[in-house]
Amino acid sequence: MTNRKIVLGNWKTNKNVADVKAFFSTLNQAGDLPKNVIFGVAPVFVHLPMALQLKNAQTIVVAQDCNPHSSGAFTGSVSYSQLKDLEVNHVIVGHSERRTLYHETDADINLKVIALLNAGLTPVLCVGESLQEYDAKQTKIVCTQQIKAALTGIDAALLPNLIVAYEPVWAIGTGRTATENDVVVAISAIRDAIAASANTATANATPVLYGGSVKPDNARTIMGWPGVDGVLVGGASLDPNDFIRLVKAGA
Ligand code: PGA
Repeated sequence: MTNRKIVLGNWKTNKNVADVKAFFSTLNQAGDLPKNVIFGVAPVFVHLPMALQLKNAQTIVVAQDCNPHSSGAFTGSVSYSQLKDLEVNHVIVGHSERRTLYHETDADINLKVIALLNAGLTPVLCVGESLQEYDAKQTKIVCTQQIKAALTGIDAALLPNLIVAYEPVWAIGTGRTATENDVVVAISAIRDAIAASANTATANATPVLYGGSVKPDNARTIMGWPGVDGVLVGGASLDPNDFIRLVKAGA
């Protein structure tokens, strides 16, 4: 928890070459953006080299996933060490779409977090409950369990490189944002779980973002909630002018 905010855009499987070029052209001409905001976007793998070339110094390029094995027979996937080689240092891990559509388990996510942290990279670890779990008031249990599983066997000394995103599945792409109370309760369970894997100082220093239907109009309010260090944004990060407004909302 610091005054520094983090605004990350998850582009998912969107944009073609021309869109990526247009995005960075607008972003790079945005003038001075707040110095206290760390911001970046996550394009698809094939657009990473282009994004790295087009971005300005302030912008971070993030990958949406990685293979936890440095190389080998894993047709179709990109390894954490190939990302590191490219100088992509931030990687989203355990997004709910990976968990549901690609059947990623907590054990898979644990391997990715271990590989990234050991390589000196920053995982953006996504956790969050389903609608059914939310209705059953299991948010704290689910978030605690997902953090605990993701951090199993990790050297606590590496945890300062971790970023966590609390993303209730029912809020992703639905236009339904979690309430302040929902977010504060979940983030405090997340920090308790990090403290249990490391210590309270590390837990308090770990940036925790909120994700799920964040828009330019609600981003400032959400980033003002206790314990929220920034936002992970899907749909509203695609338009460069909306993204600039999201970044400015962190000032
Ligand atoms: P959304 O997606 O902002 O479109 O709800 C968030 C996410 O999936 O990270």
